[in-house]
Amino acid sequence: MIKINEDKCIGCGLCVKDCFTKEIEVTGRKAKPKGIRCIECGHCIAVCPTNAIVLENYPMSEVLEYEKGAFEIDPDQYLRSLKYRRTIRQFSGRQVENQKIENIIEAGRYSPTGGNQQNVSFCVMRDDIEPLRNMVIDELYKFANLPEEEKAKLNISWYGNLWKQMYLDYHDKNRKDGLFFDAGTVILVISKSMQNACIAAAHMETMVYAQGLGMLYSGFFTRAAAHSKEIKEYLRLDQGQEVAACLVIGYPDVKYQRTVPRKPAEVAWR
Ligand SMILES: Cc1cc2nc3c(=O)[nH]c(=O)nc-3n(C[C@H](O)[C@H](O)[C@H](O)COP(=O)(O)O)c2cc1C
Ligand code: SF4
Ligand code: SF4
Repeated sequence: MIKINEDKCIGCGLCVKDCFTKEIEVTGRKAKPKGIRCIECGHCIAVCPTNAIVLENYPMSEVLEYEKGAFEIDPDQYLRSLKYRRTIRQFSGRQVENQKIENIIEAGRYSPTGGNQQNVSFCVMRDDIEPLRNMVIDELYKFANLPEEEKAKLNISWYGNLWKQMYLDYHDKNRKDGLFFDAGTVILVISKSMQNACIAAAHMETMVYAQGLGMLYSGFFTRAAAHSKEIKEYLRLDQGQEVAACLVIGYPDVKYQRTVPRKPAEVAWR
């Protein structure tokens, strides 16, 4: 719920104009909340010229004042960095600093959510990577050994041989990790809304690379988690929650010299 400081309000109406849910009205040159429907998006806070509005129960001290040059991204540099980004499957043993992990979570936390539900949560796996990896590799092996028709139903027919090989490599004396590639940090992005979680994950990915780290999205993990009661229980997911993305993060042990080509975009201009 918003609170408006009447002493600061100059009745300009900018908050009324920018409020998506029409929650604010100006009467007697003072803005007032109607108390009908506020999605706590903060647009009124951001737009108010006199900083007259706060959201109760939110950490207002984290709000930053706009400063020209400090909040913009250079578009050419941004696009180049996206083109240079590669999925990393070779990690050095260097542990990712906690501050960098917190910055990645912050990028997820500040991502937009439908209706501003803010219903995306994060699970940082470090100490528990080993048991999780064991469980997932075992589960995938079980899936790989299902009868063909069941695999077809789960849409995993194609992966069977890969998962069998991954299991064998992992249980070999060299313990080759074809799931997390020996990365030291895994962040799971969890939500009841796939769309919200995937948007958060994409922003987190950008933050990963901006900090000199690298990552891969583990689709093997999300498939295993989607079909396995045991993994869901281990992760203590609430009813309806899914692991939308699994970010496997570390310092890259590979250096790329250039970007790669892609197929032309399929675009309809209408
Ligand atoms: C998946 C998704 C669907 C959304 N759908 C709509 C929409 O249909 N109409 C709309 O006005 N805003 C829509 N939004 C915008 C959200 O309401 C907005 O992101 C949220 O209120 C937070 O505000 P902010 O993006 O300015 O931080 C959508 C956002 C997301 C992530
Ligand atoms: S934007 Fe701020 S100053 Fe303007 S009407 Fe709203 S609360 Fe008052
Ligand atoms: S927080 Fe968003 S929905 Fe609530 S009053 Fe402000 S602009 Fe409107």
